[in-house]
Amino acid sequence: MMLIRKSRGWEISERLATPEAVMLGRRAALGAVVGGVGSIAMAGSAKAQFYKLFGADGGGTPDKPRKPLTAAANEAYKPGRAITDEAQATTYNNYYEFGLSKSVHGAAQALVTEPWTVEFTGMLDKPFKIGFEDILKKMTLEERVYRHRCVETWAMTVPWVGFPLAKLVEMAKPSSGAKYVVFTTLADPKTMPGLGQRFYPWPYTEGLTMQEAMNELPFISVGMYGKTLPAQNGAPLRLTLPWKYGFKSAKSIVKIEFTDKRPTSFWESLQDQEYGFWANVNPAVPHPRWSQATETLLGSDERVKTQIWNGYGEFVASMYTDKTKEKLFV
Ligand code: MTE
Repeated sequence: MMLIRKSRGWEISERLATPEAVMLGRRAALGAVVGGVGSIAMAGSAKAQFYKLFGADGGGTPDKPRKPLTAAANEAYKPGRAITDEAQATTYNNYYEFGLSKSVHGAAQALVTEPWTVEFTGMLDKPFKIGFEDILKKMTLEERVYRHRCVETWAMTVPWVGFPLAKLVEMAKPSSGAKYVVFTTLADPKTMPGLGQRFYPWPYTEGLTMQEAMNELPFISVGMYGKTLPAQNGAPLRLTLPWKYGFKSAKSIVKIEFTDKRPTSFWESLQDQEYGFWANVNPAVPHPRWSQATETLLGSDERVKTQIWNGYGEFVASMYTDKTKEKLFV
């Protein structure tokens, strides 16, 4: 189902946040803004060229059936606002490997998630590979309702099913010298049309400090809304980091590496002034091209105030008190 969503004037700058501006060049993108239907906003010819390259505009491909996946609710992290309609959260996505529009859900159905293996490498007792199903057998699933804040100023509230990232790190037994953990996500040219755009530094990677990884909030999501994850939301397993801008929450993870060197992630290597390593949510620190003071909840016209740490300061703020020289909010 295609959800009709009106475009609004204020969305223009954020919509130029990443793909259009990067790919077409700022001027071309600025000349091609106002659009609609929850997809990238571009003039006809640019859009046609864009989809020719990326082959994704949502199409009519229905979602693959998802298996039921329920778990006891962990009530420790109250979202303080209503859960987003499932149809919104699963049809308005960022998953650049499948295309640069928000309507990649059709194209993403090409993702093959069985079998799925995750490789653990770098500074750990013994590098190993493990099947997704075998990971699940070792974990106790729970449901957590988290707020999600995209750097482009849209937001949602989702009941995720999964387990703490800390449990996965414990399972991997990193060595004491490891300072960072790096997540690499699937890059399969056969199924992912976005990889054809060589300008991007595929594969998509993201990183955390070990201290962040061991915090109680980072979650590995394997389901949402009581079912396994849909492809477009990062099946079969993704990071969910509710106090950071959404681009840190890497989807469809295939490799986890422990290292003592701070990694440069996908977006950071493209535009480090706009998408930094820390990317903690802060309404008082604007993105270089727009304000971060407010956000729009998916499925509504409501513009609400953004909270520092996306409202999760009590769990995470103490990790950053000594990092006074870092650009924590970019
Ligand atoms: N992970 C991969 N592999 N590729 C992506 O393009 N986009 C990121 C993040 N993880 C992305 C990704 C961005 S910018 C956001 S806001 C969230 O996924 C969006 O998650 P959602 O589609 O489930 O809302």
